[in-house]
Order: sequence, then structure tokens, then C-alpha cells
Amino acid sequence: MTVDELKKAVRFAYSALLGNLIVLGTSANIFSAINDGINSTDRIATKYNYRNKEILEKYLDTLVKYHILEEENGEYILTGSFLNKIDNEELKISKITEDFTTYASALMRFFNHYLIDRNHPYVTTSFINDSDVWGLWLENRWFKLSREVIASECKIGKGEALLDVGCGSSSPVYYGKLVGPYGRVLGIDKSEGLIDVAEKRIKKLGYGWISVKKSNIEQSCIFKEKYDIAVLADLLQYVRNIKKVLCTIDTAIKRNGKIIIFTPCFADSKEEYVPMMEFINAHVKDYVNNVSREEVEKELGRLGYEVQEVSEKSMLLMAQKL
Ligand SMILES: C[S@@+](CC[C@H](N)C(=O)[O-])C[C@H]1O[C@@H](n2cnc3c(N)ncnc32)[C@H](O)[C@@H]1O
Repeated sequence: MTVDELKKAVRFAYSALLGNLIVLGTSANIFSAINDGINSTDRIATKYNYRNKEILEKYLDTLVKYHILEEENGEYILTGSFLNKIDNEELKISKITEDFTTYASALMRFFNHYLIDRNHPYVTTSFINDSDVWGLWLENRWFKLSREVIASECKIGKGEALLDVGCGSSSPVYYGKLVGPYGRVLGIDKSEGLIDVAEKRIKKLGYGWISVKKSNIEQSCIFKEKYDIAVLADLLQYVRNIKKVLCTIDTAIKRNGKIIIFTPCFADSKEEYVPMMEFINAHVKDYVNNVSREEVEKELGRLGYEVQEVSEKSMLLMAQKL
């Protein structure tokens, strides 16, 4: 083996690794932060609670050296060519794809350890024990877009009272902004860590009409108030007793109110990505089963709801209480 051969190997690996370098920034929400003007090491670190600022700075400086970022007085911006790409509609889709791929790959990386044991300590995908990682994933473009789709397809508007079931750390503020101060949002989630993050965000913004509460929808939940809308986004595949959960949520819904269910894939959808999505999802420790649209519709029908027309039936279901 000569030094030349070693160098060749490194050069070859380096160009292949450039793609990975960018994926890291995507998965850690660094590009979207910079794009939103959160563009110094300190501000990015504060926004996402990254305590290892040395590695964050090293990462940003490496990107500067590869002309992906420019730096001036400690502030980073995306270079022109990178920015053009972000504005480009096709790339927007590919960015969402990239975010989804990163998230899915991160989950699938646990496969080997999960194979060995369901409770292997290296499998860090539980909503309760690994809320810090989930806090990051829930900020990525895939989850952001899913909220936008729910809001626009289901026409969530100002002044509405919205119950966000399995809200995680990001969506209460998103729906809170949509319904505004004349509306109200209650987010509930079984993960204390995610509720803590959501609470801090709400406090920071001073939005008194949004509240969050640690609560498991599978255990007894009593709602003091009634709501126009209940959103169940990416939740039902993690619950055991769907009948009971829908029954509990129904107690919180006003007459003519709606239940909105979003899932990356209903089990009975004919889309070819369904088995892949189910496999990916199975790496989340809380995963139970992908639900079928038919089963949910039947249960909602039994509770007195009428299914409403939405354009995207493989991911979205909306039903109104008669
Ligand atoms: C994939 S995340 C989706 C979060 C949020 N709906 C969003 O779209 O950003 C699923 C969330 O459901 C919550 N969850 C799962 N089972 C739950 C249960 N039985 N009761 C309350 N929350 C639950 C998890 O803790 C997690 O925050």
C-alpha cells in the first residue's frame, strides 16, 4: 500500500461524503434555521438546544470551506447557488424528500439493534425517553408540510377551538397561529419531554390561547371544554385501542365539529410505498399497527360522524359530527 493509494481512497470517499455532510445539516434543521435568519452559532444552538457548540461551529465552518455557506461577522448565509436551489419549486419537493429520507434512514439505522432486542438501549426512538430526538424530527420539513396540508385541506381558520391529540412539540404553536387569539388550542401528548418543549415555545411567544398538557389519550381523559376540531396527526399507528381513543375524543367535540386524521399511509391504501412506510414506522418503539381507513371510517360512522370529501384519501380523513 502506498501513500498515493491512501490519498486516492480519501479523495474518493471525500466526494462521496459531501452529500452526507449536507444531509447532516438538513436532519439537524441547520439549513432551514439559516434560511429563516437564525444564522449564528449561538442562535442556532439556542433554538435547537444544541449544547455542543464546538461541533456546530466546526460544521458551519466546514460548509463555508466548501462554499455552501458564507460567513461574515459570525453570521452565516447560504451561498447564491444554494439559495437559488432552495427557491426552486422542484428542489422544494426534493428538500422535503431529503428531510423524509433522512428521518426514515435515521429510524432504519436502529434495525440491527432492534433485531437483537426490542428493548436494546441503543434503539432511541421512544416518544417518552427520546423526546429530544423527536423534538428535532418534528421540526423537519416533512412534518411541517404535513401540518400545512392538514390546515389547507381541512380549512382550519381563525377563531376555531382546536384539540391537537398527540401534539408533540411543534404543532400546538402552528395551529395556534392559524386560529389566532380569538380561537384556542389544547395540545395533549403522553411525552412529558415533548410537552415541555411545546410549553416553552408557547411561553416565549406569549400566546395565551394555546395550552398543552401531558396526557395519554388511551387512559382516562376528561375534557373540560368542547372543540370545533380535533387533529390526530401521525398518531393512530401508535395507539392500541382505536375504538376507545375515538370514543374519548368524541366527548370533546361540539355538534358539527370535525375530527381530522392524518397518517403517512392508511394500511388499506393501494400506494406502493405502504409496506416501506410500515417498515420504517415499525422502528418507533411506540409503534402498534398502521390503521386501515375502512376501520376508522366504520368507527367514526358508529359514533355519528359523516366522512367529508378531501382530495388526498391515502393520507387524510376528515369527518363531521352530525
Ligand atoms: C409522530 S409524532 C406526531 C406529533 C404531531 N402530531 C405532529 O404532527 O407534529 C406522534 C406523537 O403522538 C404522541 N402519542 C403517541 N401515543 C400517544 C397517546 N397514547 N397519547 C398521547 N399522545 C400520544 C407521541 O408522544 C408523539 O408526540
